[in-house]
Amino acid sequence: MRLLVTGGAGFIGSHFIEYFLNQYPQSEVTNLDCLTYAAHPDTVDRLAQLGGKKYSFYKLDIGDSAVTQILKDRKIDAVVNFAAETHVDRSILDPQAFVKTNILGTQNLLQAARTVGKIRFVHVSTDEVYGSLEPGDPTCTEATPLDPNSPYAASKAGADLLALATQRTYQQDILITRCTNNYGPYQFPEKLLPLVIANALEDKAVPVYGDGKQVRDWIYVEDHCRGIDTVLQKGKAGEVYNISSSAERLNIDIIKKTLGMLAKSESLITYVGDRPAHDRRYGLNPEKIRTELGWQPRYSLEEGLKATVDWYVKNQDWWKKVRNKDYFKYYQANYQPKVSDLSEAQL
Ligand code: NAD
Ligand code: TYD
Repeated sequence: MRLLVTGGAGFIGSHFIEYFLNQYPQSEVTNLDCLTYAAHPDTVDRLAQLGGKKYSFYKLDIGDSAVTQILKDRKIDAVVNFAAETHVDRSILDPQAFVKTNILGTQNLLQAARTVGKIRFVHVSTDEVYGSLEPGDPTCTEATPLDPNSPYAASKAGADLLALATQRTYQQDILITRCTNNYGPYQFPEKLLPLVIANALEDKAVPVYGDGKQVRDWIYVEDHCRGIDTVLQKGKAGEVYNISSSAERLNIDIIKKTLGMLAKSESLITYVGDRPAHDRRYGLNPEKIRTELGWQPRYSLEEGLKATVDWYVKNQDWWKKVRNKDYFKYYQANYQPKVSDLSEAQL
């Protein structure tokens, strides 16, 4: 297969490329990424070394009209679209960037694939499009109506609807995956778990939004990558597939568990103001991908979290590179949940 991965310099996309090159040594992977703040400077080099002649990289926005020519030049059979603005807090500060990449960028890719023809297109989406559950509610199936609450979730829902409409209108080979909160090595330290680990390792405060009793459904990134590959290989055009390890936890519980693994004191926990329109609970039902396509997760939360914590402990240079003073100045200037609660010294 000749695969185009977008957003392959970010967290999940880079894991997927590594997985795919190992799994299918005869395949070729083209990575298209415009390298936003979320693309780690080391990732492009690491993947180039790993992939050798089987790997190419284009520094390009998914909204660029040159995408069509790249699909033709590289004789692409399939696209997996990871490229996105992904952090909810940033979407509250600057929704425009999310609409531009997540909706308009995806539309440009869908259209480029249609122009070229005969391309399987897997669009990577999120459980956040379903909105928030209450504690006793059943988990969301693929038939649950979309009800996004953050600009990030709304932009992902918009892209999902465009992808489905494009499939129906033009009979394109398009599929959607919706996954829960990922964790693992190489995740940018603005997301909860890498932030907790990095702050704790530096004995800085660990910010908990609101009462900390929000629930997230956690999956180890490698299990998500195998799920996407399963859909790419065996999924049916026009279908949506939820991907979940069914590991729902209260934020405060997973934070305490992580601090425990690091042998750090819970006194680092600092309650701060809540995120506006903060979703209370996410939970996905993965029965469809399990029964129809035979996927199942391999990692328990305990195993995945241990592997993640160990990686961040051993690879401190990686996350310190992107946690410099400028990064924190950005947070202090813009952060909605009262960052003033945290002293300069803590940051
Ligand atoms: P990330 O923020 O780590 O990486 C995003 C990558 O996309 C970066 O390399 C960035 O440079 C690139 N990018 C951004 N805008 C671009 C553009 N306009 N053109 C080209 N490249 C661009 O994201 P992630 O956590 O790896 O998420 C990947 C995908 O998976 C996203 O679509 C996200 O919505 C989805 N997803 C993520 C999670 C999660 O927990 N992280 C869960 C479910 C679904
Ligand atoms: P996050 O990693 O931003 O993912 P998402 O909002 O997409 O689920 O946050 C996960 C949960 O952790 C979410 O309920 C918000 C909360 N959170 C904190 O309590 N403190 C933090 O510093 C961050 C980044 C998140």
